[in-house]
Amino acid sequence: MNKVVVGAQWGDEGKAKITDLLAQDADLIIRYQGGCNAGHTVVVDNKTFKFHLIPSGILYGDKDCFIGAGTVILPEYFEEEVSGLIKDGINVSRLKVSPLASITMPYHTEVDGFVESTAKKGKIGTTKKGIGPTYTDKYARIGLKIQDLYSKETLSEKLDVILPIKNKTLEQVYGLEPYSKEKVLELCEKYAKIFEPYVCFKWQELLEKSRKKIVLFEGAQGVMLDVDYGTYPFVTSSNPIGGGAATGSGYGPKMIDEVVGVAKAYVTRVGEGPFVTELTDEIGDKIREIGHEYGVTTGRPRRCGWFDAVTMRYAVLVGGLTTIALTKADVFDTFDEIKVCTAYKDTRDGKIYKSYPTDVYMHKYLEPVYETHKGWNEDITGIRKYDKLPENCRRYLARLEQLLEVPISIVSVGPSREQTIFK
Ligand code: GDP
Ligand code: IMO
Ligand code: MG
Repeated sequence: MNKVVVGAQWGDEGKAKITDLLAQDADLIIRYQGGCNAGHTVVVDNKTFKFHLIPSGILYGDKDCFIGAGTVILPEYFEEEVSGLIKDGINVSRLKVSPLASITMPYHTEVDGFVESTAKKGKIGTTKKGIGPTYTDKYARIGLKIQDLYSKETLSEKLDVILPIKNKTLEQVYGLEPYSKEKVLELCEKYAKIFEPYVCFKWQELLEKSRKKIVLFEGAQGVMLDVDYGTYPFVTSSNPIGGGAATGSGYGPKMIDEVVGVAKAYVTRVGEGPFVTELTDEIGDKIREIGHEYGVTTGRPRRCGWFDAVTMRYAVLVGGLTTIALTKADVFDTFDEIKVCTAYKDTRDGKIYKSYPTDVYMHKYLEPVYETHKGWNEDITGIRKYDKLPENCRRYLARLEQLLEVPISIVSVGPSREQTIFK
């Protein structure tokens, strides 16, 4: 069965842990969108691995891992991540990069950093990894792809089109330094060397060969950060939703049998943007401290709040989620009460929203309507069977299933591989 792992909230749901687990049964793991804005943590045998671009399945060493056309790659980050894995003794010989993936150039990170640090209004709180500007150029058809690095003629022709536009924008819009063709060619030569062992020009054969095998698609970010369906403009610039797996991997939608939405038992968000169930009090602090809610990529403290069934039901719909992996249930082990948001109330007129309202500029007027559940006050990190979970915990999970109308098939009770309950 081919599965997609999709973040169901605003990212950092524990996707990498679930990908690593599901990768056991897969022959090919494909990362389909995003770039090194992602920070993915896998804990195996008490050792913590942090990934940004490379599919978490790489740890097995005997599976093909493919970074698809829908991704954007910052070459130096890629190089650093690969050499970190090699140093740790991980076999990276089956790591493959699509020649169609987009390259993040230094001017992309410069623009991202510049916009973020000078914005007075509308700051997104990006990871400053050049994600937005790289995708902007891709869609404006002035981006560079990895395959361009290996044809002098193509690269030269493309740069003659790209650089005049790019430099004009860099200088006149941002007041940044322009790039000469010589400089960019020099960079590209360096990048060609970085990618050479991994670029997979025979990717069509790889996908063809794996068509009859088990493919796992790995998403980054989450549905609420999706550029089309998330809390726009406070989103990333790609499509983390289940549908993104088809466009970003090179396989069609019929290759997908199941979409596993990964959600925390609560919600976190890094960066700016609306967050109706956000807790800015000591309960939020308690969740952050117990859950170690600090960003993998930027170290920023994550904003924390109660589980939001309104956005989750929306994520089930637009993310195409067919089942849920619920993570970090253990973070509530010492909570007397746990709340779940079942609707939003408009403070201006009392209107109740059960469906997600997409005009996010109006979210400042919304307050959560909560139902309260009794906590279980028990350490569940050592439990491995669903029916051994405390009754209040099972009740909480059953209520979430009822609200979301999809089954919770995996419950995660700790960061390591074995701290997982398959229902
Ligand atoms: P991702 O971006 O979705 O892969 O998630 P991150 O790696 O950014 O953040 C998830 C964090 O939670 C990581 O530190 C994981 O090791 C940790 N984690 C994952 N599942 C669980 C769980 O069930 N319980 C606890 N306590 N930690 C978890
Ligand atoms: P993983 O895969 C959480 C957020 C940023 C910012 C917005 C846009 O680890 O879940 P960008 O740099 O993408 O232009 O920033 O998206 N963001 C993430 N938040 N987890 C992530 O990835 C994220 N990747 C981007 O904080 O709000
Ligand atoms: Mg993360």
